[in-house]
Amino acid sequence: MISNICCIGAGYVGGPTMTVIADRCPNILINVVDTNAEKIKAWNSEDLNKLPVFEPGLRELIKKVRNKNLFFSSDIDLCIKNADAIFISVNTPIKTSGLGAGEASDLKWVEASARRISENANGHTIVIEKSTLPVRTAKVIKEILSTQEIYENDNERNKSFSVLSNPEFLAEGTAIKDLQEPDRVLIGGDDKNAILELKKLYLNWVDKHKIITTNLWSSELSKLTANAFLAQRISSINSISAICEATGADIKEVAKATGLDSRIGLKFLKAGPGFGGSCFKKDILNLVYLCKYFNLRQVGDFWEQVIKINEWQRNRIYEIIVKNLFGNISDKKILILGFSFKANTNDTRESPTIGLSINLLKENANLVFHDPQVSFDQIKNELEKFTDLQKYTNQISFCSNLYNASDYADAIIIMTEWKEYELVDWEKITKKMRKPSWVFDARGILDISKIRTENINIWQVGNGVIKN
Ligand code: UDX
Ligand code: ADP
Repeated sequence: MISNICCIGAGYVGGPTMTVIADRCPNILINVVDTNAEKIKAWNSEDLNKLPVFEPGLRELIKKVRNKNLFFSSDIDLCIKNADAIFISVNTPIKTSGLGAGEASDLKWVEASARRISENANGHTIVIEKSTLPVRTAKVIKEILSTQEIYENDNERNKSFSVLSNPEFLAEGTAIKDLQEPDRVLIGGDDKNAILELKKLYLNWVDKHKIITTNLWSSELSKLTANAFLAQRISSINSISAICEATGADIKEVAKATGLDSRIGLKFLKAGPGFGGSCFKKDILNLVYLCKYFNLRQVGDFWEQVIKINEWQRNRIYEIIVKNLFGNISDKKILILGFSFKANTNDTRESPTIGLSINLLKENANLVFHDPQVSFDQIKNELEKFTDLQKYTNQISFCSNLYNASDYADAIIIMTEWKEYELVDWEKITKKMRKPSWVFDARGILDISKIRTENINIWQVGNGVIKN
């Protein structure tokens, strides 16, 4: 029976997942470990506003379980040694150099975790892949672990491993609810006992019909497929948003009329500035890489198009903004509402705001950022990854009060669908803006019927210019 868990990686996946398991399984002791000591310190912070991950409902649960059966620790080796189940929840970004650069996942953190497990584990240990990984990663983990197994067996020490795949399906912003009430839990593997042990863990709160078991490769591929399908829906609706703008159709009406077909469904049909986040692009790139590897060029081309449309949508919105501002944004003040890749998270990975901001900076615009959960330091760190920010330091600033920030602004761009942006008092704001003033609603969240002021031009994704 699993009674002691170690989770390697205290990020957006590891942190919330282990918090929910700790809450639902009070008899299991859980240690979440990370090589990043600052992150561990932040997870242990007395001030719950300083947790490294912002997720609705997370703070309340942390308060309940932290230092009872959930611990955040930097003593990785000891926590591995004491564990009978180890979740690998480390980052797996796309490789930036070398073979497969820009296409394949960088597995160095997974490999490092496997090596550390193989050195420190004790007795029989179930090793569980939690991070999204390319298909057949379990093979890499198994090989690393089995080398150690043989070596240790030679020394007659008791050390053995079972490797399972148990992909996470949580979406940021709703992670706690997704974990508490999952649509399904997927467990892939070939060791029936290990599968049963993990299944028993989830049975503490998940209905047995929702727990499905498959072989390892099906489990890994299902995760990539699910994300590819979701991303594909967004690219599909974004492609239609451009047709709506050209024809006078309204994207929300089209999405509703289409989605009400129960075979299609209403979810994931919101047009926007293109999908972001750490998973969609990476997972599709992994799928495309896999297709190339197996000589399935047409299949790879099909999925690659989902990413191409996403990039096209991002660029299309940037061009619309510049064109409407008379093709010249030099020295103009632009207020950008939202830097996180979606609402209710502080995660900025692959946020569509990054590329847009850099494009606007290159045209000499002055940008003022606003985000309820992302700090100016985080924004600068994110931009710095993609551009030489030194060149633009005089062009960027941050404002925590968006009414103050709108003074003499030429344009406001809504990039993240934070609730507070739906509730903005446009009458108050437009009085402060320079004329002609523009609002670009890249998320389609504004209800035009409620905006009374005449002093504003509004462009909305999937609708075009709706007020001027
Ligand atoms: C995704 C998957 O949903 C989740 O199952 C998986 O475990 C991890 O990847 P996440 O990236 O956290 O989760 O968020 P998600 O809600 O899927 O949104 C991804 C991106 O798509 C965001 O940028 C979001 O704004 C965008 N999106 C989503 C749209 O533009 N329109 C939609 O209708 C839905
Ligand atoms: P995700 O969204 O997949 O959770 P994050 O980047 O938020 O990704 O979190 C992954 C975490 O894994 C990071 O905090 C990182 O420091 C940690 N990590 C990476 N490699 C190791 C390792 N070998 N041992 C322990 N922690 C690691």
